[in-house]
Amino acid sequence: MKKLSIRDLDLMGKRVFVRVDFNVPLKDGVVEDDTRIRATLPTIRYAVERGARLVLASHLGRPKGQRNEKYSLRPVAGRLSELLGQSVDFADDCIGDEARARSEALPQGGVLLLENLRFHPEEEKNDDRFAAQLAELCDKLYVNDAFGSAHRAHASTEAITHHVEKAAAGLLMEKELEYLGRVLNDPEHPFVAILGGAKVSDKIEVLTSLIERRVDKLLIGGAMAYTFLKAEGFTVGKSLVEDDKLDVAHKIRRRAEEAGIEFLLPTDHQVVDRFDPLHSRRTIPIEFTTAGLVGLDIGPETIARFTRALEDARTIVWNGPMGMFEEKPFDQGTIAIARAVAEAADRGATVVVGGGDSVAAVTAAGVADRITHISTGGGATLEFLAGKKLPGVEALTDKN
Ligand code: 3PG
Repeated sequence: MKKLSIRDLDLMGKRVFVRVDFNVPLKDGVVEDDTRIRATLPTIRYAVERGARLVLASHLGRPKGQRNEKYSLRPVAGRLSELLGQSVDFADDCIGDEARARSEALPQGGVLLLENLRFHPEEEKNDDRFAAQLAELCDKLYVNDAFGSAHRAHASTEAITHHVEKAAAGLLMEKELEYLGRVLNDPEHPFVAILGGAKVSDKIEVLTSLIERRVDKLLIGGAMAYTFLKAEGFTVGKSLVEDDKLDVAHKIRRRAEEAGIEFLLPTDHQVVDRFDPLHSRRTIPIEFTTAGLVGLDIGPETIARFTRALEDARTIVWNGPMGMFEEKPFDQGTIAIARAVAEAADRGATVVVGGGDSVAAVTAAGVADRITHISTGGGATLEFLAGKKLPGVEALTDKN
């Protein structure tokens, strides 16, 4: 890491502004999935134990620059307090007198969570004055642990770093950069990437970057596979296809093959008839697909081929589900891949999983604790794997 780490800071008695990514799903004011909160606990505990006075800030959802109780972080303060085993104070606004008074009242090891940064339009505009107001809440020490938001150049991830003396990476940020960096820059071979999800357009840059970096095998599932299959001349019926990306898909596949990369597409799939989706589910070879059919998951033959392709892998990166994961039984392909990557990890491969549905799949399959690294990023993970620089990381203070 060329950037300062929280471990390089003298935290005792100091108010530290910590940008976290507590953008978690809420239902009726209750946190539905606290993975991102748990992932930040090591950083929070580290700072608490060293007597820091912590001012935590995050966004939640996309409230479009306006106060909206639906997106309040208050329930998150409650959950954090339970997980941390200590009370967490809450400020109704992320700037202003109340937030300042609460930050000043923090005892050593005390924790304050600020209300949603995105209740102010200035946050997403990377506004410098707003950033200066945020920085007033700390003693010129800033820590960014929000890997999931590091691809955003916002006031709390970028501009604020110009108003503090030291801007350092938190422990989660460091861990994400270490594992994803290893996959991208120094993978042990054979290196296999599994990509899925709805759209090729979301993954074009990742595919290109992985091809340039000489991934050994690319396994493509999910609806995005249909764009590749159609580009090869297969009939895909009413399956989801991006017709404006057929050319790109064709070129990506050609480039991969020219580079000697094994490029695996599904050879069978679970389909339903679009006029009778509830009673027509069956598994067929891809070439048997007719006009009225919709493909919703990879089939057993594809699962077996993909699993075999992972057998000798030393590095695996997986992003995106293999089918309509949210709808049973079309989660079967994704769950099977979750088990297969966990087995590869048991054999010693470095396995990095990112993206909401793939992460949900390793959890649902009960294999999450066998995965080397589960990334908390969505867009940030994809941008990193695409080889892009993340503004939230670039803005941190260089080590020397
Ligand atoms: C995410 O969930 O990917 C991050 O929290 C960023 O959220 P955003 O896409 O609304 O900026």
